[in-house]
Amino acid sequence: MADTLYDFGMIGLGVMGSNLLLNMADHGFKVIGYDKNPDKTKTLEVSATKGTVVKGVNTLNEMISQLQKPRKLMMLVPAGNPVDSVIAELIPLLEEGDIIIDGGNSHYIDTLKRITFLKEKKLHFMGIGISGGEQGARLGPSIMPGGDMEAYKEVEPILKAVAAKVNGQPCVAYLGNDAAGHYVKMVHNGIEYAIMQLISECYDVLHNGMGLDNDELHKVFLEWNNGEMKSFLLEITADIFLKKDDKSEAMLIDKILDKAGAKGTGKWTSEAALDSGEPIPAIDMAVMVRNISALKEQRIFANKIYNAEVKKINIPKEEFIKQLHDALFFATIVSYAQGMALLSKASAELKMDIPLPEVIRVWTGGCIIRSSLLNLFSKAFQKNSQLQNLLLDEDVAKLLSAKKQRLKDVVTTALSNAYPVSGLSASLNYFNAYCREKLPTNLIQAQRDYFGSHTYERVDSPGIFHTDWQQDDKTVDHASNQLIL
Ligand code: 6PG
Repeated sequence: MADTLYDFGMIGLGVMGSNLLLNMADHGFKVIGYDKNPDKTKTLEVSATKGTVVKGVNTLNEMISQLQKPRKLMMLVPAGNPVDSVIAELIPLLEEGDIIIDGGNSHYIDTLKRITFLKEKKLHFMGIGISGGEQGARLGPSIMPGGDMEAYKEVEPILKAVAAKVNGQPCVAYLGNDAAGHYVKMVHNGIEYAIMQLISECYDVLHNGMGLDNDELHKVFLEWNNGEMKSFLLEITADIFLKKDDKSEAMLIDKILDKAGAKGTGKWTSEAALDSGEPIPAIDMAVMVRNISALKEQRIFANKIYNAEVKKINIPKEEFIKQLHDALFFATIVSYAQGMALLSKASAELKMDIPLPEVIRVWTGGCIIRSSLLNLFSKAFQKNSQLQNLLLDEDVAKLLSAKKQRLKDVVTTALSNAYPVSGLSASLNYFNAYCREKLPTNLIQAQRDYFGSHTYERVDSPGIFHTDWQQDDKTVDHASNQLIL
């Protein structure tokens, strides 16, 4: 097949890269993959479905010379320097109008810089978020493209063909300007962190507090997954409790060290939220708990010093499981609400023009945070595409109001028995603060003004004020610079 011109090229044939390429081939596209490692290119070719056109090469030159123009190529390499190295190698080989896609989890600021840099060289660069893990890549991921519309139009048919389908619609859509694709994927991952944290807190209180064994845990999560919060993460959680260890007689879950890894996207979400001023504590807490989990040796030592054992929870099992279900339901909605609120704010601030209803639709299939709850959010955004926070939607409010007491009960029980429920309590605290018309932050303003003349606003008249707190009756209206006596 020496004269074949290929429709799409993939750089980096790890499992994600190969699987996505094979998925494209299954949809009739002629694809070519590059990897320095000949074993990987061989594996790619032998894994191809019979009758599909798939080729593996070991130099970039070979790949570039066999691609249809404008060339469409994606890299799936680790974020950071590897992306820049590939770009540097590609530049001399490409021509005006060619399209480079970064399909990895790159930081959106890096993507922004790369877009600008490559625009000067008349090359298109797109950041595309891809979710769904290895299986998703092979069978249908959720795809979050953003950036250059001209380039998007060129790759749209391929992306639509390979994406997961929900009600016949592909889980892909143009999600906004510049680095919007990577921004949306980052927030997806932040929400993923938060929900995983919440589920692990439920596991803790069910297992250690109520004494449920792995079989019972499997049943609880399976039942929850068959109900109103069906989700991929609940489904895999139920499965996990059935897996036997192949190195011992135990179940695998009981042999896994309790130190959580992280590749950075959760932390980036928190950092981006701090930069924009949007509060997302459920996500922040999830990042923080992974960091605490890494302090295993210190935790063992602290446990001894403080004799900090958790206690059994003395509530009838059935009743507690119901409470916990509703608490998880509530806090999961809060996690999505925080992520979406960040997207809404960042979209405006960074002029990304992210279509929030489309984000929700793209997340309904293929991705790690797919859940039946997204249907509820979809309705909310259909009613108001500019909704600032999902908690302000009437239907969401009805559901949350019905479950609020159960979250309070669970947090109270868990904390009083020494369980760290950072995600559940962060969600409740966020909710309590968000729904409070008047917060005690008037005192913070007074303190700031007292020690640093930082000024404050008043509830009864407009303007900026400063008081000399150690002298009687001296307040300055900063707008007019008049002393008010
Ligand atoms: C996905 C996942 C994926 C990422 C995991 C692991 O959407 O398919 O988000 O992109 O590999 O989230 O991330 P951490 O290692 O940070 O947990």
